[in-house]
Amino acid sequence: MRRIVHISDLHFGPEVPEVVEGLVADIERQSADLLIVSGDLTQRARRGQYRKARAFLDRVALPRIVVPGNHDIPLFNVAARFLLPLMNYRRYITAELCPRYADGEIAVAGVNTARSNTWIEGRISPEQLAALHEFFEKQPASATKILVAHHPFIPPIIDTTAELVGGVLAALKTLEACGCHLILAGHLHLAYSGDVRPYHVEIERSILVVQAGTAVSHRRRGEPNAYNVLTLDGPRLWLEVRSWNGREFEGTLRTEYDYEADGWMRRE
Ligand SMILES: [Fe+2]
Ligand SMILES: [Fe+2]
Repeated sequence: MRRIVHISDLHFGPEVPEVVEGLVADIERQSADLLIVSGDLTQRARRGQYRKARAFLDRVALPRIVVPGNHDIPLFNVAARFLLPLMNYRRYITAELCPRYADGEIAVAGVNTARSNTWIEGRISPEQLAALHEFFEKQPASATKILVAHHPFIPPIIDTTAELVGGVLAALKTLEACGCHLILAGHLHLAYSGDVRPYHVEIERSILVVQAGTAVSHRRRGEPNAYNVLTLDGPRLWLEVRSWNGREFEGTLRTEYDYEADGWMRRE
């Protein structure tokens, strides 16, 4: 059994200090094995914001997989945006832009989908897909294979026209070929989950997408600050959304999935 804490879109800069404190305390109570951060650690990629993000990460005593988001690339400093887009990210968070974690039960790969030229929209390149394929293909068949990205692979039900990561279909075809089970992402500041197949009919493999809300920022889009806790036990997945109620984080939505012959089945 493995327990994963999935946080996203922290946006340090306009973070809410009491929510940060509540998040550190609540993560500690989860007895998790791994922390996943799916991008937008800062609001404007500034050094002071990165220092805050790093100080937060250092308070969570877990192995971690972190990927950058579009806000982790400078927007207004055009020289930095194009010449050294992830300079501060590499300095304060990690120089590893292809993070990997594997322990026999879970195999996790992070991919950087943030781009300087489009800024808001992200993309996955053929080179990144080749590296993901190589990593996932060599994992044991029993391992749950998990991709971490910032930009979404399926839209939320409330906005089915939401922009998805660039190259989404090519990415899903690669992930299908190498047996990926789960995609964890953020960017939209909305917590939702679902199978890729209803949105991408060319894909036959069941891959479950889990999106996290914004963990600690003011930039909420109609939902409270929230994060996800995933518990994986063989073919079973318990997904819990934990939301800020004004005093602390509490479990607000629990969904159970079983991975069967036809793919992920949601248990009511
Ligand atoms: Fe964000
Ligand atoms: Fe974003």
